[in-house]
Amino acid sequence: MRIDVFLTPGQIDELQLRDKNVVVIDVLRAGTTIARALSNGAKEIIPVESVEAAVKLSAGLFGEVVLLGGERGGKIIEGFHLGNSPGEYVEDVVKGKSIVFTTTNGAVTMSKGRYAKQMAIASFVNIARVVDFTKDLKEDIIIVCAGDRSVVGGFSLEDTVCAGMIIDKVRQGSTRGTALSDSASAALILYRSFARNISKMLDESEHGRQLIELGFKDDLKMCASVDSIPVLPLLSGNVIRLAQDSKTTE
Ligand code: MLT
Repeated sequence: MRIDVFLTPGQIDELQLRDKNVVVIDVLRAGTTIARALSNGAKEIIPVESVEAAVKLSAGLFGEVVLLGGERGGKIIEGFHLGNSPGEYVEDVVKGKSIVFTTTNGAVTMSKGRYAKQMAIASFVNIARVVDFTKDLKEDIIIVCAGDRSVVGGFSLEDTVCAGMIIDKVRQGSTRGTALSDSASAALILYRSFARNISKMLDESEHGRQLIELGFKDDLKMCASVDSIPVLPLLSGNVIRLAQDSKTTE
């Protein structure tokens, strides 16, 4: 099994992911928000690239069961029901709903996975589930870091550290049979230097500091909480749903 890490989403297009096993990481905040929404009973998340596409798609679906969610510049988009704070996605609001979701990097990266063999969505809150998914595959895997909101397609410390955590846990017990690309080795080294305090790493990251400035400090706490939402979101076609065996309570 070979693990490769794409450190920025700018490296990928749909065809590169065709027939590949993929994990997309967006710690701040799309990956965390998706885990929380699905764990709280949302039926599905439909990631789309643009605000226009999201509005168009939602108009074609049944109004009462569809919500529009996401962000631009970190903030809720005008006319949308929900922003990109995981805390907004409570059971009362999302249960049974299809959520058309667009964010600067995360949703765009996820929407590129439509031809992937399998695509799981990861963040710190569901790391153990993603590690099990990766181990069970016993096949090559590409981990894609969705990147920093401030620079579209840019490098993000928190996604790379999360990639390193996945790699570390997949190799726990035995490193035999797992080959790492250079970028995967770099992610692992970065994880080891921040492993003791994930929360501090998030607070001090560029993206984290921007979110704190925007008033989203509570989001960071939720995003730093390792294995707090043990679900496995999987993309199938254009839609993200929970793997069959995921629990839907936090
Ligand atoms: C993204 O997808 O770019 C992020 O989730 C942005 C954010 O922090 O809201």
